[in-house]
Amino acid sequence: MKLITTLDIVALALAAIHFGVPLTYYYWCKKKWLPRPWNLKTDPNYRPRVTIIVPTYNEAKLIEKKLDNIYEQEYPRDKLEVIVIDSASTDGTPEKVKQWASRHPDLNLKLIQEPERRGKAHALNTALKHVTGDIVIITDVDAWWSSKNTLAETAKWLADPSVGAVSCLKKPATPGLAGIEEGYRQYYNTLRLAESKAWTTPIFHGELAAFKKNLLNKLGGFPTHIGADDSHTATRIALIGYRAIIPENILCIEIVPQKSYHTWRIRRAQHLIQHFIKTVTIKPKTLKPFKSILYMEALLHLINPWILLAAILLLPISIVMGSLLAVIILMLGTALLIYGPYRTWATAQLYLIAAVVRNLYTKELVWEKLSST
Ligand code: GDD
Ligand code: MN
Repeated sequence: MKLITTLDIVALALAAIHFGVPLTYYYWCKKKWLPRPWNLKTDPNYRPRVTIIVPTYNEAKLIEKKLDNIYEQEYPRDKLEVIVIDSASTDGTPEKVKQWASRHPDLNLKLIQEPERRGKAHALNTALKHVTGDIVIITDVDAWWSSKNTLAETAKWLADPSVGAVSCLKKPATPGLAGIEEGYRQYYNTLRLAESKAWTTPIFHGELAAFKKNLLNKLGGFPTHIGADDSHTATRIALIGYRAIIPENILCIEIVPQKSYHTWRIRRAQHLIQHFIKTVTIKPKTLKPFKSILYMEALLHLINPWILLAAILLLPISIVMGSLLAVIILMLGTALLIYGPYRTWATAQLYLIAAVVRNLYTKELVWEKLSST
């Protein structure tokens, strides 16, 4: 039995990179970017014409609650348009929308029905043709805006001409599996906010994704060839020189699927991977802070999980070669899983790895509706 092999040193070095890079980035975000002022000319009284697009596929259970949540927004009714775009739901979603609309005639609501389901982004592009507002806000059915002022607050940030897009921070309605989802959200919300203050965040959320309509027109609508319609559109807006930000006081509460939690996380990871691969290959000619943010996030999503996997795979080989240290590292690494943040992190890495493998045979551009319970 040897105490240590060269493979152990390599594994430890890889692990140090894997954990060190994101931790350094996180502390950099917290210390350097988060305390910064926004340097934006916001206007709390700005009330542009807004069109809220709600994409639906088999959302009969939740659609009324969603429309109630929009209806409660304190925003001038004559400036507000809601478009529900349904893609051939089979559970009676459109009927529910029609009934709800007849009970709320004072809200300008249009229901558009696609004869065939071709995915969320395709549906959003169909809806875009009917938009009359200057601001377009996409919002998923299984999420709620946390306050009656969410819409007015979103407009406030869009008052600055340099801001092209605004999204939200997220909070799970119920903490996910063993609190994984909640821990993950706290960490990521900090990064989103800090990146937004530095310039722009490359990750947006479909629970509330607001875009200036003229910029969407410039881009030719939402991308239908990759999954992350929200993040990719925001990033492309940043690449033409505008800021895409998540401010501190816009919060969405989202339902976390309990039964199919892993499937859900892997699909979302698949879409983010598609987004980052597409974005880094564009070779962004853009302002410096965003370039570093973009490359850092691409590194964290595309490469960093594999560094951890390589480190882990080296250990059993080293154990076979007789290393005692490898046994200790492996045991310690496993035991640490009882520590919440470490477990949350490790799980996220697994999802990113599984997502790459899954992307090889399906892009999940049209996905199964997962049960919310
Ligand atoms: N019209 C239409 N057509 N709507 C759809 C379709 C479709 O084919 N597929 C899904 N939707 C709607 C859903 O009804 C829901 O309102 C919203 O799009 C999001 O779909 P979910 O099924 O709830 O997926 P998710 O929670 O995993 O979605 C998240 O990730 C996606 C990309 O990874 C959200 O952040 C989405 O906004 C994001 O696009
Ligand atoms: Mn959802």
